[in-house]
Amino acid sequence: MQTLTDIYIYPIKSVKAISQPAAEVEESGLCFDRRYMLVDLQGQFITGRTHPQLTQITIQFTRQSLLVSAANMENLVITPDDFDDKMQRAQIWSDHVQAQHCNVRYDQWFSEYLQQPCQLLFFSEQTRRLVKNRETSVSFADGYPLLLVNQASVEQLNARLQKPVTALHFRPNIVVKGDFPFVEDSWARIKIGEVEFEVSKPCSRCPFTNVDPKTGHSADNEPLATLSTFRYHQGDIDFGQNLIPLNSGMIRAGDEVKVLATQAAPFYSSLKDNAVNNKKELNIHFQGSDFVAHGDNQQLLLDQAEQAGINIPHSCRGGKCGRCKVQLLAGEVTTLNQEGLTDTEIEQGYVLACSTIPLSDISINR
Ligand code: FES
Repeated sequence: MQTLTDIYIYPIKSVKAISQPAAEVEESGLCFDRRYMLVDLQGQFITGRTHPQLTQITIQFTRQSLLVSAANMENLVITPDDFDDKMQRAQIWSDHVQAQHCNVRYDQWFSEYLQQPCQLLFFSEQTRRLVKNRETSVSFADGYPLLLVNQASVEQLNARLQKPVTALHFRPNIVVKGDFPFVEDSWARIKIGEVEFEVSKPCSRCPFTNVDPKTGHSADNEPLATLSTFRYHQGDIDFGQNLIPLNSGMIRAGDEVKVLATQAAPFYSSLKDNAVNNKKELNIHFQGSDFVAHGDNQQLLLDQAEQAGINIPHSCRGGKCGRCKVQLLAGEVTTLNQEGLTDTEIEQGYVLACSTIPLSDISINR
C-alpha cells in the first residue's frame, strides 16, 4: 500500500519546514503554507535560492501568531492584529500580485537578518494569484499549490550519491512512500484522505535543491549534478510532482495514497549523453550589432551569450522571473520554459534566454 508519511508547511516562503500530523487542503495549497513572503524594496520576491540563510529561520505557531527565531536574533512575534492595511504590488516570478504589508517592525527584523532592506508581505483575502494558464489559485509557492515527493525516489537517488539527501532538500508539502522509485511519474490523479489531486507537472529543479536544509549551505552542486545524469527531460531536471487539489478537505499522515488515473511517464535520460549525441554548431546573431557568436544546439542561449561576452540581464536562471527575455527575429529554438513570459510576449516572439536552446542559426534582439 502506498501511504502519505509526512506533511510539511513553510508559513514564510523559504523558511525551515514545519512537520504536521494532519493538514487542511485548500484550493491554493495547505492551510498556512507560504502565506508570507519577503520582497526587496522594488517588490521583487526574495527566496532561499539567492538567500539560503532563510532556510535557517524556524517558525512556531502560537495562538493567532507566528514565533520566528534565528541564530543571533531576538525572537519575533508576528501577529495579524499588528498588520497595517496597506496593499502593495509585489512580483513573484512573472506574476504581479497585490499583497498586504505587515508591519515595519517585522521588516526591520528580516532586514537585519538578511543584511539587506526587505519587507514582509501577507497573502491576504484580497490577494489573487493563479496557477499559470489555469483558473485555480496558488499562494506564494513557486507555481503550484502543493509539491509531492516519493521517499522511494529519494532513496534511489541516494544510492547514486556519496552524501545522502533527505526529502526536505526538495521542499515538499507531502512525502509519500510509493511502491517503487519514480512511480509518481506515471500518476495523473490521486486521492489522499478526503482530497483528490491532479498530478499536474513534474517539478523542474534549480540550484536551491543543493541547499542543505539543516545547514543552509550548498557545497558540491549535489544532488542536482547527479539528478542530471538520469532525470533529464526536454531541458528540465525533474524531481517530485506538482499537485493541484480538486477539492478541499483533510489529509493525515498514514492516509493511503490511491491512484485514480495514470499517464505515460516522460522518458528520462542523462543531460550529458543527450548533449553529446546530437551536437550541431550554429551562429547566434545579436541584432543591432555585427556580432555573431559561434554556438551550438546544446547549451542554453543565456550560457552561450555569456561565453561570447554578451551580457543578457537575468535573475532566476530558471525560466520564471522573465528578466532574460529576448526577441527571436529569425531561426528555430526549443523553449524549455515560458513561465516568465506573458501570452502577449510569447506572441511577439519573445523567449527566455535562460530556458531556450537554439536549434539553427538564430538572430535575436536583446
Ligand atoms: S526567466 Fe529568470 S533569468 Fe531567465
